[in-house]
Amino acid sequence: MRHRAASDNFSRDVFPKGASWSNLPLHPISLQAGTTAAGGATTKRTSLAPAEVPHFDQARERKGPLGYPPPGERLRVDVHIDPDGPGTIAADVRRGLSSPRKRLPPKYFYDDRGSRLFDRICDLPEYYLTRTEQALLEGVADEIVALSRPRDLVEFGSGASRKTRLLLDALERATNRVRYLPIDVSESMLRRSAQALLADYPSLRIHAVAGDYERHLDRLPNGRRRLVAFLGSTIGNFTRSQAQAFLTRVASHLNTGDHFLLGVDLVKDTAVLHAAYNDADGVTAEFNRNLLHVINRTLDSDFDPLAFDHLAFFNAEESQIEMHLSAQHAHEVQVRALALTVPFEAGETIHTEISRKFTRAETEAMLDRAGFTPVRWYEPANRYFALSLAVRR
Ligand code: SAH
Ligand code: TRP
Repeated sequence: MRHRAASDNFSRDVFPKGASWSNLPLHPISLQAGTTAAGGATTKRTSLAPAEVPHFDQARERKGPLGYPPPGERLRVDVHIDPDGPGTIAADVRRGLSSPRKRLPPKYFYDDRGSRLFDRICDLPEYYLTRTEQALLEGVADEIVALSRPRDLVEFGSGASRKTRLLLDALERATNRVRYLPIDVSESMLRRSAQALLADYPSLRIHAVAGDYERHLDRLPNGRRRLVAFLGSTIGNFTRSQAQAFLTRVASHLNTGDHFLLGVDLVKDTAVLHAAYNDADGVTAEFNRNLLHVINRTLDSDFDPLAFDHLAFFNAEESQIEMHLSAQHAHEVQVRALALTVPFEAGETIHTEISRKFTRAETEAMLDRAGFTPVRWYEPANRYFALSLAVRR
């Protein structure tokens, strides 16, 4: 596999409960290939023999042909897996499918296949969000870097880290060296993206976290000036109250002067919105159904994904796209790992996702309530999408 190349010396450690990024070594740790840090062994700087910890300066002494440390020493990947805790797929699926109005949490879309499908969505002609945000960022990345001057670039839901490259390019132009800290539930995508970035940005250091930004925010390292990016209007996948609570929690982990860059999709013509979530090639439909593939695989269920239609429409009252999977006919599904039988009526739906659409006033009010002061608002002439830069008060 491409992302498991020979030079791929990841440190893979599962955080014990209560451990925090802030008491982890700031130096990239490179273990022998195939070595796994025993539970928590790397959570204290002193717990590894010095010889095993190539401190950044030591790494620099062993420069590769280009004068940079080899990729294995510039990457650290922390993996958070807590399969028995609340908020995991078993508990979420049981709760969601036992409810009178069936629903499933969207974070489970993003297994390896789901992440690849989403990446294809980003290139669809109907899905204006990605290219609009990309074009915006091209124009304003230098100013964002000049205003925020980060030492750590944190990104929530980084996915393929495509747009991140525009920030990294601007940082390079400003000779502003950063450590990049992407957080994503899709471990495979995270690793693939990190490898690609290491190859293209020879002086970049990456500390990636495979985890849930709703649960693992306390792992944010502290003490360095930060720019936190949350792009793609992923914030729109939260309800209004979830989004407010999330931003407030984010703010509480940041220091005065840290910056937050938020991408939001804006309210617009319903036909444009509708097309973006009902593409002609059916990639979005397949992405939506992928949730059922994920559940089949992880919970030994017998969903027939093709027995469900993709349903996406704009709910103007709530200002949100709603995504559902609609049963074509009455049937039962067995979720064997949960010993659960799930009956469906014909036309009954599973609510899988919302994608809220924002206005400037709403976005800035939400940021302000969370403890941020809006600094810049960037939107293109067609007002399809916006970037809001704010600073922690
Ligand atoms: N930032 C990219 C990807 C957006 S798609 C872009 O703008 O194109 C949303 C991303 O968030 C996916 O990569 C998905 O794996 C990740 N994600 C979704 N829910 C998450 C959660 N609760 N915690 C961490 N990552 C999550
Ligand atoms: N953050 C993306 C959005 O709200 C997620 C997304 C795009 C999505 N297309 C989707 C989620 C289709 C589920 C189904 O636009």
